[in-house]
Amino acid sequence: MSPTASVVVSSQANQAFRHPESKQSIRVSELISALSYALDITEGRPMGHSVRSCLLGMRIAGQLGLPVEAKADLYYTLLMKDAGCSSNSSRLYHILNADDIRAKGDVKTTDWTKVGWESLHYAITHVATEMPFAERVWRLIQVAATQQRDSCELVKIRCERGSSIARKLGFSESVAEGIHSLDEHWNGEGYPSGLKNKEIPLASNLANLAQTLEVFWAARGPEAAIEAAETRSGRWFDPQLVHAAKSLAKEGQLWIRLDSQELITEVMSQEPAEGRLTADDATIDNICLAFADIIDAKTPFTFQHSNGVADAAVLIGKAFGMPQGEVNKLRRAALLHDIGKLGVSNAILEKPGKLTAEEFAEVRKHPYFTYEILRRIPAFADFSTDAAAHHEKLNGKGYWRGISGDEISQPARILAVADVFDALSAKRPYRDALPLEKVFSIMREEAPQALDWPCLAALMEAKPF
Ligand SMILES: [Fe+2]
Ligand SMILES: [Fe+2]
Repeated sequence: MSPTASVVVSSQANQAFRHPESKQSIRVSELISALSYALDITEGRPMGHSVRSCLLGMRIAGQLGLPVEAKADLYYTLLMKDAGCSSNSSRLYHILNADDIRAKGDVKTTDWTKVGWESLHYAITHVATEMPFAERVWRLIQVAATQQRDSCELVKIRCERGSSIARKLGFSESVAEGIHSLDEHWNGEGYPSGLKNKEIPLASNLANLAQTLEVFWAARGPEAAIEAAETRSGRWFDPQLVHAAKSLAKEGQLWIRLDSQELITEVMSQEPAEGRLTADDATIDNICLAFADIIDAKTPFTFQHSNGVADAAVLIGKAFGMPQGEVNKLRRAALLHDIGKLGVSNAILEKPGKLTAEEFAEVRKHPYFTYEILRRIPAFADFSTDAAAHHEKLNGKGYWRGISGDEISQPARILAVADVFDALSAKRPYRDALPLEKVFSIMREEAPQALDWPCLAALMEAKPF
């Protein structure tokens, strides 16, 4: 990406986010940085990984003296770099026959391009880990035989999906390209296109360096992070970028405030003022829709689930005569209610048999993650508790808090009914959609012990098909 090209592209793009800034304006950086916590848990990283990578990348960009337009595009490339992450989780699980989140998390500290003990150890500790020895060995041989093709396929799915989400949201072509080429390597041995040297967009190579620095910083400390960058300089990264990172580290400027409790405020202050993006109501809805797609892409079983829950919840809300503002809020809560599921391994979500107690305990955490992600966004904070209460039951036997009766708000009751309704009525890869009468008869049995009867009655009355 040449700085000139970026100027041209940026002046025409990111238009979806350009609104006059006022005291009430919602900054896109605030929304995306908080939602990036969901991308972090999908990738097996601690929450805050994307935001910290963004801080590191922007500091290196400052050291390089990049023009402001390039910095604005880089900023959103860094925050959205993992937008496609959920789309290959299922495929990765089926290739490895093991925990995709653990595999994704650990691959970041593995130099998998070098054949040797490091990549062999990774394979041994991440492939078919729960299978009997003989099956495991056979699986390892299969994985080794198709490793290059599979890695390319996984990166391709992820980068195409990520860049398409960026385009759909209205980010510039530079942001989309930056995300698309994140896994290209300086020596031409990366994926998906084998781009080399300056063929790789600067934002991609910088984002790759920044994420590597963050991962090693978090796992092994600053010295190990610089060592990892140096070892991969000229192979993975443009040596000039590594040099700039090293200079900053030497001056004591690279790592500052990475452990701040106010990470989102910190990263918002790094958005170039000239390219600052704000969101109106329609844009916020668009961002919710994009993240609903990211959530639903995690497994083939949840195809369009978040949208289905949103449609049903809106029907109930309208039947209750809720004001339009409340209905809009309910819809956003429904679109994002399962965002915490991104932190649950596909080995559990797609397990064909019954879950063990430990596995079910993992599933029960997902509404808590939903709360943790949404509560950080001031515009979403007031519905974060309701969104996270979609598995609570009136009899107190739900999760994650086990609240009951009047402790469960009306929006939360609506979401619970909409969630069960969509789960039962949607078509699944292993079965057809249940007929409406069957869905409602199952739900009628559950209410009044678990589900709210007036919500269910309103949904049945609204005839959702
Ligand atoms: Fe859920
Ligand atoms: Fe759900």
